[in-house]
Parts: sequence; C-alpha cells; structure tokens
Amino acid sequence: MLRTLLAQQLGSDAEAAQVLARWDRWGADLLVGLAEVYPQPGVAEQVVGLIADGHAARSAALRARDRDRTLGPDWFQRPDAVGYAAYADRFAGTLNGVAQRVDYLRELGVTYLHLMPLLAPRPGENDGGYAVMDYGRVRADLGKMADLAALADTLHGAGISLTLDLVLNHVAAEHAWAESARAGDPRYGDYFHVYPDRTQPDAYERSLPEVFPDFAPGNFTWDEDMAGWVWTTFNSWQWDLNWSNPDVVCEFISIILNLANEGVDCLRLDAIAFIWKRLGTDCQNQPEVHAITKVLRAAARIAAPSLIFKAEAIVAPNQLVAYLGRGAHAGRVSDIAYHNSLMVQIWSALAARDARLMTVAMSRFPDIPTTTGWATYLRCHDDIGWAIDDGDCAEIGWNGFAHRGFLSDFYIGAHPASFAEGAAFQENPATGDRRISGSAASLAGLGTARTAGQRQMAIDRVLLGYAMVLGFGGIPLIYMGDELALRNDDDYISVPEHADDNRWMHRPVMPWELADTRHDPSTDAGRMWAGLRRLIDVRKDLDSLHASAPTRVHPTSHPAVVLFVRQHPAGDMVQVYNVSDWNVTIPETDIQAHAHGLTFDRLTGREVHPHDGLYALRPYTTWWLTQPAG
Ligand code: GLC
Repeated sequence: MLRTLLAQQLGSDAEAAQVLARWDRWGADLLVGLAEVYPQPGVAEQVVGLIADGHAARSAALRARDRDRTLGPDWFQRPDAVGYAAYADRFAGTLNGVAQRVDYLRELGVTYLHLMPLLAPRPGENDGGYAVMDYGRVRADLGKMADLAALADTLHGAGISLTLDLVLNHVAAEHAWAESARAGDPRYGDYFHVYPDRTQPDAYERSLPEVFPDFAPGNFTWDEDMAGWVWTTFNSWQWDLNWSNPDVVCEFISIILNLANEGVDCLRLDAIAFIWKRLGTDCQNQPEVHAITKVLRAAARIAAPSLIFKAEAIVAPNQLVAYLGRGAHAGRVSDIAYHNSLMVQIWSALAARDARLMTVAMSRFPDIPTTTGWATYLRCHDDIGWAIDDGDCAEIGWNGFAHRGFLSDFYIGAHPASFAEGAAFQENPATGDRRISGSAASLAGLGTARTAGQRQMAIDRVLLGYAMVLGFGGIPLIYMGDELALRNDDDYISVPEHADDNRWMHRPVMPWELADTRHDPSTDAGRMWAGLRRLIDVRKDLDSLHASAPTRVHPTSHPAVVLFVRQHPAGDMVQVYNVSDWNVTIPETDIQAHAHGLTFDRLTGREVHPHDGLYALRPYTTWWLTQPAG
C-alpha cells in the first residue's frame, strides 16, 4: 500500500521506476525503523510523501550522481579517498572563496571536503555554529543557499565530495521551533523536553554526565517563557530535541533531503549518541538512536542515494561500532564513524613512547560491516578527551586514572618529559578529567623545539600520526592547517565569543602567505606538506588499503614499536611504527611473523632488511611494507 502511495506521488517522474526499485531494496529498513520508534498512525504515509517531494526536487545532475554512486558505492572506502575539514570562513572567507581554493585541495589530494557548520546559527555565542537557528539558510557572511549549491557543483567537477554537519540533537534557542514553543504553541512545545519542576531533571541528572562542566554545568536550563526546565545537554542556548515526537523525524527527513538536493554528499550526524533519552542511563547510545538513523538513512537511500552519513559518536568501542551497524542494523545506519579511540591512542603512544596500550585498545574493536569505514583523524576542531579504559590499562600494568592524568599533564606541557604545548579544556574536579586543546603541530612539540633537529622531530611526530591515520583504512581526515604544521593561534582570546572556549586555539584562520611557502623544503610548512603529500600519493595506489578490510594492530617485543597488519586479496601490507624518539632494535621475527617476506617500504621506495637478525628503527620510523611496486 505504501509502495502504491509512493508510485502515485511519483506520478510521471521519469525515474519513478528507479525510485520504486530503491523502495523495494530499502523500504523495509524504513518501515522496521518506523515501527520500532514511531508506531503512530500516518507517520509512514507522511514519510513517503517527503521522499516523493525530495526526489521530485532533485536536479538531473544529482540524479546522475545517484546513478554513478549506486554503481560505485565504495567511493569513500577507496584508498584514494582523502578528507579535509575546515571552517569555510577561516579557510577562505566565504563559500565562493572556498570554490576559489579548489586547486589547493586538489594539489593536496583531497577528495572529500567537510565544511564545518555553515547553516544560520544563533547570533553571538553559537558553539562554533553547532547552535543552528535555520537549517534552510546559510550563514549570511558566507553566502546564500545558491552559493552552497554552486560550490557543491564546483567541488563535484573537481572530484571532491561535500560534507556538512547535521546538528540533530539540538537547535538554537532562537530557532523558530523554540520561538513558537516559548510563544505557547503546544505543537512546538512537544519538540523539546520541558519539565515544570526539578523532579524529572533531578532524576535524570543522577546518571547523566556533563559535557561542558565549565561553562554549561548540568543538563537542564530554566526558561521563564516555558515556565519549565528545558533539556540542554550542551550549552544553555542549545535546546535538545524530543526525538520521540514523529514530527521531529519528519522535519529532519525534509532537512536532509533539502541539503542533499543542494549537492551535499555526506552528512556528519553531530552528537548523534545523545538524541534519545532514557531515565537511569547516561542518555547516550540508546537502541532507538540506531532505529532512527536507520529510518533517516533509508529515506535518503530511496530519494537521494548518493548521500551518505558519518556518525559523530565519541563513545566507547563496544558502543561505537553500533553506529556502523551491528546485528539487524549492520550496513543500514551510518556509512562512516569517527575513530576517536585511534586518535586518542596515537597521542597516548607519542607521549608515553609506548604503543602497548594502543594494541590492547584496538583489539577491543569488533570488525565493522565491509560496506562501511572509519573516519580516521589526528586532530579535529574539538578537544581531545582521554577516552582510555581502566581495564585496558590494567592489562599492561598501568593505572587508568594515573595515565589519563599523565596525558593531561604531558599535553599542557606540565610534565618533565613533555614536548607539547596545549591547554586544559573543561577541567572537571568531580571526575579529575582534563581534556586538551591545541593544534597537532603544537601538541607534537613544534612550539617548544629549539633546534632544527627538534623541529624535525616535531614534524616527524605529526607525520607518524598521519601515517597511522592514512594507513589504518577508512577515510583519513586532514584537519585544516595540519598540512602546514600550523601552531596554536592564541589570538582567539581577543574575540569575545571565543575567549571562554580554548578550542579556538586550534581553529586558526588559514595563513595563505604561509601556504604559499609549501613547496619550500627549508620551512616547517614545506617539510610537513611534502611528508603528507608523499603519504597520500603512496596510499592512493595501495588497493590493500580499501576500507572493506580490517586493520589488526600487533605489539612487538619493544613497547615503542607497533605493527598495523592488513590482509587484503589485493595484497598484504604490514606497517611498522616506532612511536618514540629513541633508536630501537627489534628481532626480525617480530615483523616477519606477520610480513611473511614483505620487505619493500612503499614510502621510501626501498627494501628494508635486518642486520644480524635485528631491524634497526630510528626515532619515528614509519615503514609501509608490501610487495615491491609494479
Ligand atoms: C559535537 C561537535 C562539538 C559541539 C557538540 C555540540 O561534539 O563536534 O564541537 O560542541 O557536538 O553540538
């Protein structure tokens, strides 16, 4: 019956048959997800209408893109896929400005561009754009929707996909839905979680963590107009949406399809873990989150199949894999998920000069569906939280609490062995947590380096981190400025809306005059650029790095040396990393037990051989061993 309804609504659309074929393929996902969370009558019919409308408004060019991507759905899994994340304004002023920098991105090898939040945010403080006031409008200083569509078109022409954030846990308190709720419209009152007194909020608070204990303690904010406590997980002006209301899911299906029709290829599902609330839990990773994602994903697959989803869920390993789909959801939710744990473990290994914890932590990750991939990264616009498990630490004889404390001290430069120059973010005296802000180059020691050798060491650390990020399989994301070894930007303090939030120290404005020196090997920027370019170039020809195959992380007999092992029908690969600033040796068998005769390092184009049964590794050695090229 719903199929007939869809057929009727598609009417004489030239591609009606294809849409219906996609309904036959993905419609069941939609209906199962809806039945699980929104059994109310009429919801499925409404969603069918949104799908038909979304498809009707899709341009011929995007429909052609849908066909291409349906034939090559692994575009984001391939080894030539490289991401870049930037704020449009800080990178290039406006959306048109970004279009003019496409050559720069191409030269770096970028095929996927994530532009940080650019839909109209609330005025004043807006959490870097994560407090959206209007999902149908672009931030005025960046341009208009038409400029976004034009940019998407330019990017597509250059072989680059466009990713935007979809903030779905909350809207700005100034969003029209919240305005209507405050004006007393009950339809919109139901879009939010509002409680007349502290009874429910207090009951929830008993098991809720605090995301911003410093500047937004607690999870609820009193609102005079609502005469109630509004759920605000993040800042007081970010109102959590009530996703148990079917109107909310319908609103978002329409937002998603509108963005897809502007040419957006991937939506980053911001803070997706938080969207479902359940008393007595931390209100993250609830089963309904995945059922809802399945609904959204299926609707997009039917109306705009070239669109994919990237989950931003900064959660424990056993919870994280569910965002790529476990059990009945396998391959039916997000296509990509941030690998927060890998990022944390890289910084942990560099500080400790010890990669054993990484091998334990990585072994906790079950395999992910072969149609999905990790988004791997070394830095992003957020702070680094020490998501390090006590049990993992205990396995190598460490104390988790002490190690997290060590990492915080190390990265704010308060430890004698530190090379880092970062800052503490959201210190929480109740839990002892201290998260870290700082750019990759500053955290890796470029700011504290006094000699040319130390500067090179700092760059080598960043490059080793990026080698892991690029070597892991999945889509590696370069964070704007890392390619030029940009250090912390301390000027953020002079901007009133940023001064309280030191994450802005690693959200600099692109210094294009420095970018112009990128081909000069005598500069830090030039050495970083060349190193990263080399990794990207080598990677793109390594079929064995396709995201469909997993990476196994193995220890060696030296704590500072770790192996990433990839087995793929296209050829095996063993990556060798020395995470320390020491010269170390390891027995030949440590590597050859996995490498089975692979001795050719793709990065240098040379054979590496042991002497007297030992491999010698200099500080931050990175080898990508495969069969000889060609
Ligand atoms: C995500 C963003 C972060 C933001 C939060 C709330 O975690 O990465 O920057 O503060 O969501 O939207």
